[in-house]
Amino acid sequence: MFVEEYKLLPDYLPSRIPHREEDLERLFKVFSPMLSPTPTPATSFMVGAVGSGKTMLARKIGEKLEDEGRRNGVIVKAVTVNCRIDRGPSSVLNRVVQSLGLSFPKRGYEVQETLRFIMDELRQLRACLLLVLDEVDSLVASNGSSLLYSLARINETVNPPPLSLLLVTKDLKFFWEVDASTRSSLQKVVIRLAPYTEGQLYNIILSRAEEALRPGALGADTARLIAGSGGDSGDARYAIELLYRAAKIADYSGADRIRPVDVQEARNSLPPQVSLEELSYLTKHERAILLAAAQILSPTERAFVSTGELEAEYRSLCASLNLKPYKHTMVWMVVQNLKARGFFVTSQSGKGRRGRTTLIGLNMPPHDVIRSCSGGR
Ligand SMILES: Nc1ncnc2c1ncn2[C@@H]1O[C@H](COP(=O)(O)OP(=O)(O)OP(=O)(O)O)[C@@H](O)[C@H]1O
Ligand SMILES: [Mg+2]
Repeated sequence: MFVEEYKLLPDYLPSRIPHREEDLERLFKVFSPMLSPTPTPATSFMVGAVGSGKTMLARKIGEKLEDEGRRNGVIVKAVTVNCRIDRGPSSVLNRVVQSLGLSFPKRGYEVQETLRFIMDELRQLRACLLLVLDEVDSLVASNGSSLLYSLARINETVNPPPLSLLLVTKDLKFFWEVDASTRSSLQKVVIRLAPYTEGQLYNIILSRAEEALRPGALGADTARLIAGSGGDSGDARYAIELLYRAAKIADYSGADRIRPVDVQEARNSLPPQVSLEELSYLTKHERAILLAAAQILSPTERAFVSTGELEAEYRSLCASLNLKPYKHTMVWMVVQNLKARGFFVTSQSGKGRRGRTTLIGLNMPPHDVIRSCSGGR
C-alpha cells in the first residue's frame, strides 16, 4: 500500500501543492524585495479557513525565499512560530533564537532585550529574516499587541536588519484588538485563501496519494468519496487524514488498494461522526432511501450509485414495505437532506451521453446501514 508512509503525516511538506501555486507566487511577489541587493522588508497577512493550506504555504514561501536568496547571494532566514503553541512574546522570541541556531543569552532577557539581541545577531550575519507568526490571533488574544508593536517598529529604527513579517490567521477579526498605530504600520497586503472546493480536494488527494502510496492504490471514485466526506468544509487536513486512515485499514486487511468500505470505516472513526443511532430518528422514506443505496453498494466495491439506480431500488423497496413512493423531486430533496446530515456524499459524474448526473455515495459502511435498518424494522 505505502511507498513512503510519512508523506501522509501532518508534518510533511508536500512537493506538489495543487491549487495553491498561484498563492505561493503572490506571496513570493510580496516578499521578493527581500532578495534585492539592498534588501527591503515586507509585511503580509495570510487569511484562510481551517485546512486551507496556510501553514503549508508559510513553510513553502520560507523555503523558497531561502533558496532564491542563496541563488542571489542574499542570506535569508525564515522562521515559523506557532503562537498558539509558543504562548506569549518571550516564548515566541525564544523560539526565534532557537530556530536561528543562536546561542542563548546566559541570563534571562526581557522581551525587548531578546529582540535587540536577535536583531544584532542578524545584522552581524548580514541576514534578513522572514518571521512567520502562525495563528497570530492567539498571541494578541492572550498577550495584546505589544510584540507586534515592537516588530512593526523595528524597520523604522536606524540601520535596521530587514525584518519581514507574515502574519497568519483564520480570520482578521483579531486585528481590531490591535492598537491603532500598530495597525496602521502593519496594514499591508492581505492574501486570502478561499476554502478548497470538492473538486480541488479531489486533486489534492490524488496528488498526496501519488507521493505516498503505490501506483493504483487509490482509484478515482474512492478519491471522490474521500473528497466529499468532509462535507463543505474544504478542509484538506481532514481529507488527508481520511486518506491515511483508509490506507491503513486497507493495508491491515491485506488489500492492495483502498476500497470504498475502507474510506467509510475510516470516516466512522473521525469526527464529525454520524452514529447509527441517528438512523432511528429518520423517517420511513429517509430510511428506505438510505437502505436502497446501501443495498446497491454492499455487494459491490463501488463508491457511488447514480440517482436513477437509487430511485429504482427505492421504489422496489417501497413496494415490499407497502409504502407509497415519493416522486422524483421529493426523493431528490431527501437525498440533499441526508447529505446535509452527513449520511450521504454526492459527486458529479463526468459528462456522459445523457449529460452530467449526480452520484451518491455513503459516508458509512453499507453493511452497517443494512444491519441497523433491517434490525429496526
Ligand atoms: N494544495 C495542497 N496540496 C497538498 N497538500 C495540501 C494542500 N493544501 C493543504 N495541504 C495539506 O493539508 C494539511 C492542512 O494544511 P495546513 O496545515 O496548511 O492548513 P491550515 O490552513 O494551516 O489550517 P489551520 O487553520 O487549521 O492551521 C497539511 O497536511 C497540508 O500539507
Ligand atoms: Mg495552520
